[in-house]
Amino acid sequence: MKFFRRFKILGTGAYLPEKVLTNADLEKIVDTSDEWIKTRTGIEKRHIAREDEATSDLIIEAAKEALRNAGLAASALGAIIIGTISPDTFFPSTGCWVQKGLDVPGIPAFDVSAACSGFLYGLEVGSLMLSSIAKPILVAGADILSKITNWEDRGTCVLLGDGAGAVIIAPTDEDRGFLSSILGADGSLGELLIQPAGGSRMPASHETVDKKLHLLYMKGNEIFKYAVRTMGDAAIQAIKLAGVDPDNISLFIPHQANTRIIEATCRRAKVPLDKTHITISWHGNMSAGTIPIAFHDAISKGLIKRDDLVLFAAFGAGFTWGASVLRF
Ligand code: UT7
Repeated sequence: MKFFRRFKILGTGAYLPEKVLTNADLEKIVDTSDEWIKTRTGIEKRHIAREDEATSDLIIEAAKEALRNAGLAASALGAIIIGTISPDTFFPSTGCWVQKGLDVPGIPAFDVSAACSGFLYGLEVGSLMLSSIAKPILVAGADILSKITNWEDRGTCVLLGDGAGAVIIAPTDEDRGFLSSILGADGSLGELLIQPAGGSRMPASHETVDKKLHLLYMKGNEIFKYAVRTMGDAAIQAIKLAGVDPDNISLFIPHQANTRIIEATCRRAKVPLDKTHITISWHGNMSAGTIPIAFHDAISKGLIKRDDLVLFAAFGAGFTWGASVLRF
């Protein structure tokens, strides 16, 4: 087997905030229905962070579980990498807040901003850093989208949720790790999914707040076709680069934005739907959080065994995308 980059997964963890918002709850907030949300997206409920809960708080819980499952103390970590677009603060990075929470001063800690592809971007960076750091690395994907959601826009508020997933990766001489990894971006499509205000392009002002420009804007149906094409093609490339056949994939873990996007991606990449892990019904779209949470869920349920080939694929704002084949 041809190895692109060797590393092993020592442990995984996930954390979802306690509060649950069902489709029935949303029927009382905007003009929507449980039937519309379920048939158009596959979502039944989502978790919503408390007012005093920030993204790093969710990650710290997920990281502690991943460390427990790895049988490691936080002091064993060599770096912290966080995929997120809803940081606690623009600076310091969420990585630094997570480092403070885990009480591991000194090691590098930073964020990767690639929206829904953030976890796969982080895993790529983390796997590359292993050769120089030579210690376990925490890679997490997490978002609190409820705090940048326009709760008057039924086209977006029914889709989004909050959550964090974490993995601990480590160097290995064993035949496991990435057989392939592909990342991509197309900044010319950035306006289709954007948080317009709050950065240097449009700094915060009374006007930007009044116009709700700090919230998430999305042209959903325009994104849909790009999502299917990009995620599908990235998956096809990753499978080809790995030198395997779609039939060799044990489990496909896609970004969870919409069940219909996942189904169409499977058709395009010729990956069977019954080998695809779909978790969107119980958490909605949590951007960078969806893949590591679905990965943890699959491992916890015994759906991934040692030596299995796992395919990941993601697509998100930027636009960004990524796909990889991992031997577990
Ligand atoms: O995380 C990565 C980035 N994001 C995505 O990948 C999201 C990609 N897009 C999607 O998942 C889908 O496009 C949506 C779920 C956002 C929308 O589904 P759609 O099938 O593309 O619906 P649509 O936007 O074409 O709207 C169809 C109808 C419209 O009504 P009319 O014009 O046909 O009368 C909408 O106004 O559905 C209406 N609609 C709703 N109705 C009830 C839109 N949102 C809702 C809603 N409840 N929440």
